[in-house]
Amino acid sequence: MSNLKKILVGKKKICKSIWFMRQAGRHLPEFRKIRSKNKDFIELCLNVNLSSEITIQPIKKYNLDSAIIFSDILMVPFALGQKVKFTKNKGPALDKFNENIFNKNNKKTFSKKLKPIYMAITKTRRALPKNKSLICFVGAPWTLLVYMLNLKEKKNKIKITQFKKNKKKIYNLLNSLTKYICLHIKNQIKAGADVVQVFDSWAGLIPSNDLNTLCINPNLKIVQFCKKNKIPIICFPKGIKKNYSKFNEKVKPDGLSLDYDIDPFWAKKNLKNVVLQGGMHPKVLLKTKDKIYKEAKKYLDIFKDVPYIFNLGHGVLPQTNPVKLRQLIKFVREYK
Ligand code: CP3
Repeated sequence: MSNLKKILVGKKKICKSIWFMRQAGRHLPEFRKIRSKNKDFIELCLNVNLSSEITIQPIKKYNLDSAIIFSDILMVPFALGQKVKFTKNKGPALDKFNENIFNKNNKKTFSKKLKPIYMAITKTRRALPKNKSLICFVGAPWTLLVYMLNLKEKKNKIKITQFKKNKKKIYNLLNSLTKYICLHIKNQIKAGADVVQVFDSWAGLIPSNDLNTLCINPNLKIVQFCKKNKIPIICFPKGIKKNYSKFNEKVKPDGLSLDYDIDPFWAKKNLKNVVLQGGMHPKVLLKTKDKIYKEAKKYLDIFKDVPYIFNLGHGVLPQTNPVKLRQLIKFVREYK
């Protein structure tokens, strides 16, 4: 059993396990080299050999404890028939959502479209040492809907009129999306992944009255599905501030990933019966070595007597120097 899984299922009380969100990709020159020759991002995610190679790049470079499969949360809308385009510096753009196309989907066609991801997982699992975890992931229903229905304004704000106009559609879609998300988790675990992380990256955009319906309940359904199938699960409801405690009490995931807005002292005090992960601001890695160590020390001291998974409060930034990441990993490993 991998170390990460042991920590999440409570078999290891205190242990340092390190991995980073977005460890594969963007910041790595090795990735950028492959990317420059593969202009279509979706195709790259569906290239079994390259996806596996990119997944293993940060493991080879940093000897991290867990690999996370190279893919994207938007592979689910893609598999459901919505065109997804990634243009440089602009982020992803999806074709207009079409309900007729969406309703024509079924489990079989969905799984078939994502088969290369499952093959890449099997290939990667074989190449990884047994004690290393292979994490798979999904976007939470709300976060996928933000992209699918184009609900986000530029400055990390929701298009409130459009949101209100589409509320019924959103509520209807949530349930069917959740089913496909659970299927995608099951397929990935069957292929060889051993832990799943759910990214609700845009949970912070949800108006507070809708938090239960749009974030907590869908995440709860996914957690219940995973518990039934004995799949260790880490949730990441980014941006929901003090509602992290309500989320934790209701959803009860095995692991809870802290975003950089969460005060780690508050988290230690208020988030119980869950394995905490991450928290440190990814921007810290753009600072000097001493500042990086000081901030890492803060997290390690606060969580020294509880199970804690070292990670960041969001993904590794593209402009991060790999040398700094290596220094941070060494510091965390050697800190007592
Ligand atoms: O290393 C890993 O974590 C595994 C790979 C991974 C990618 N995307 C590869 C990727 C993971 C876990 C994701 C998750 C993801 N994708 C999230 C949730 C995490 C988060 O950051 O909040 C979200 C919101 C997306 C959607 C997405 N995909 C965006 C907004 C973008 C464009 C800008 C960006 O963040 O990179 C992508 C493209 C993407 N996904 C790239 C990579 C390596 C960059 C592709 C490129 O080179 O152009």
